[in-house]
Amino acid sequence: MNKRKILVTSALPYANGDIHLGHLMEAIQTDIWVRLQKLQGHDCIWVCADDAHGTAIMLSAQTQGITPEELIDRINRQHQQDFSDFLIGFDNFYTTHSEENRIFSESMYQAMESNGHIHRRSIKQLFDPDKNLFLADRYIIGTCPKCHAEEQYGDNCEACGSTYSPSELISPRSAISGAVPIEKESEHFFFDLPAFKGMLKAWTRSGTLQDQVANKLNEWLEQELQQWDISRDAPYFGFEIPDAPGKYFYVWVDAPIGYMASFKNFCDREGLDFDSYWLPDSDAELYHFIGKDIINFHTLFWPAVLTSSGYRTPTAVFAHGFLTVDGTKMSKSRGTFVNARTYLDHLNPEYLRYYLAAKLSSGIDDLDLNLEDFALRVNADLVGKVVNIASRCAGFIHKGFDGMLAENLDNPELLAGIQSIKAEVTEHYDNREYGKAIRLIMAQADKANQYINDKEPWVLAKTDKQSVELQAICSTGINAFRLLLCYLKPVLPGLTKKAEAFLNIDPLLWRDADSLLTNHRINKFQALITRVEPDKIATMIDASKAHNETAIATAAENHFEPEIAFEDFAKIDLRIARIVEAAHVEGANKLLRLKLDLGLDSKGQPIFKQIFSGIKSAYDPADLSGKLTVVVANLQARKMKFGVSEGMILAAGPGGKDIWLLEPDSGASPGLRVT
Ligand code: MSP
Ligand code: ZN
Repeated sequence: MNKRKILVTSALPYANGDIHLGHLMEAIQTDIWVRLQKLQGHDCIWVCADDAHGTAIMLSAQTQGITPEELIDRINRQHQQDFSDFLIGFDNFYTTHSEENRIFSESMYQAMESNGHIHRRSIKQLFDPDKNLFLADRYIIGTCPKCHAEEQYGDNCEACGSTYSPSELISPRSAISGAVPIEKESEHFFFDLPAFKGMLKAWTRSGTLQDQVANKLNEWLEQELQQWDISRDAPYFGFEIPDAPGKYFYVWVDAPIGYMASFKNFCDREGLDFDSYWLPDSDAELYHFIGKDIINFHTLFWPAVLTSSGYRTPTAVFAHGFLTVDGTKMSKSRGTFVNARTYLDHLNPEYLRYYLAAKLSSGIDDLDLNLEDFALRVNADLVGKVVNIASRCAGFIHKGFDGMLAENLDNPELLAGIQSIKAEVTEHYDNREYGKAIRLIMAQADKANQYINDKEPWVLAKTDKQSVELQAICSTGINAFRLLLCYLKPVLPGLTKKAEAFLNIDPLLWRDADSLLTNHRINKFQALITRVEPDKIATMIDASKAHNETAIATAAENHFEPEIAFEDFAKIDLRIARIVEAAHVEGANKLLRLKLDLGLDSKGQPIFKQIFSGIKSAYDPADLSGKLTVVVANLQARKMKFGVSEGMILAAGPGGKDIWLLEPDSGASPGLRVT
């Protein structure tokens, strides 16, 4: 066999969210392909990583009150655990926030720059004056200029479908701070994509792309290509551009370079030669598995960047469609936006692996996870067909023959038939036509079951549980099972592992489908997989719904303001105050009017302040007078509906009856500065 040298990547999940079933579809598709290559004895390495940079991750860390590094570390651990529990066998799962990636990003940029492919020019962009942040389109919210629908994000309206420039939005606001954005100019760095038109045209035609993808790319190539904006201004979580303080690489620059960095990290650990995979004279195949939403990054920018910086281009890019659930986009409110962990809490990962494999093809059409069909299909195929063959035969081998398989099998034609599909199965898997492979395999499983039905070993066993014929039939069944499992091993590594223990054999390899198991002692049969229970699916959807509702609620409550310097904090004048009067406010549901004693000012004059506070649910005004609390004494007075409020009192608690004012009555004097 010609041993292939293959490097595979799958798209790097963003490090600010959980792994969900959509990510898993990609991971499972890739995993099956990589396992096939490894089982065939090819030298195949699969690297992935978290995509850790960008504004979204920076803001998400801020909201959670942690550093981006803390956030991406925590998420990385969770992602790895989720993937590994789905039996996803990366050779390396890394992060784009790594030294390796910084070094590659810098050196590749420097190569592009010295090759004359980086241009600089100033552009105008919307800017959040509160946050001091340039706003990407998706962070601008406002009223649609065409149909006047409110709360529309970015450059398109969900209500009427029109597209426009975000600066055309009526009363635009920053989705981050609510501030009115201003236009601001700054210098950006651009990668000269148009210079690669010829190269890209040739690359498209070299068999690297699926037809639908090549067509898309040709459409783009027919239009005029634009320079690609590769820089972002501080504040940004990412890598600073060499010799350009305050300018950072746009996350989509260092994300694909993260493939190389993850592989470099693997090479250094395993003693492999990085260059023989990535330099232009490489003898290795390089494949990227991606979703259809990120085709442009992988088929336009990436090959051009690689070429400009002196590296090879991918052998092929394999794009897939999107996973839908019950016919529609995964939805948080319907509970069909299912996280990896929520699924694992209720269902066996191999159900999903099998179901997706049975439906996956090499195209970019979406794939629907129909929850009813999911249960039916998995139960019918895995439990009812494949495992059933073993469970119907194993018992007789144990009872009558002490676990020994026969020397001579009963129906060599049946087994030869199963063996004969190997080349076709291999080809289908290799072409990512997993559905076709599974159909071939299941047709053989049907034949094996039919054979057992016809032979009725249970009838034979009644008259003679040690008959030679019975042993030959059941041994044939067990062999059919072994061959089918060999073919299913890329899809069902966990089930196969259990079956290998039952069959008492070494881990199956692809070539093992060419041999049979005779005169061999097997172990006692144990349940290899249980049926999908439909109520578990319902519970999972409920849990998912609940999880998403809580997540939305906490995210809303958990909004942290950006970090402030100590000097900023010191500007807040916090004072102990004594409540001298507390009263209901006519017409207000939540407010109490408080009169507070803040001690004496520098001239010895008493200071009283009136403050409205939303603590009515927790306090009876009668209980409040005489109590001490902490007040923000230097807050600008605000005119409210019921009067002027001259400060704010500090209280904490979940609300309702539980709102705690500090210092019930410690004897501290009003006016004392809190430090
Ligand atoms: N971080 C980028 C990829 C950088 S690659 C250098 C990204 N991340 S992502 O988390 O949004 O998506 C990761 C992969 O999951 C993408 O290939 C994307 O297409 C895929 N999927 C995300 N949702 C999906 C479905 N619902 N269905 C199938 N795959 C989908 O994009
Ligand atoms: Zn509109």
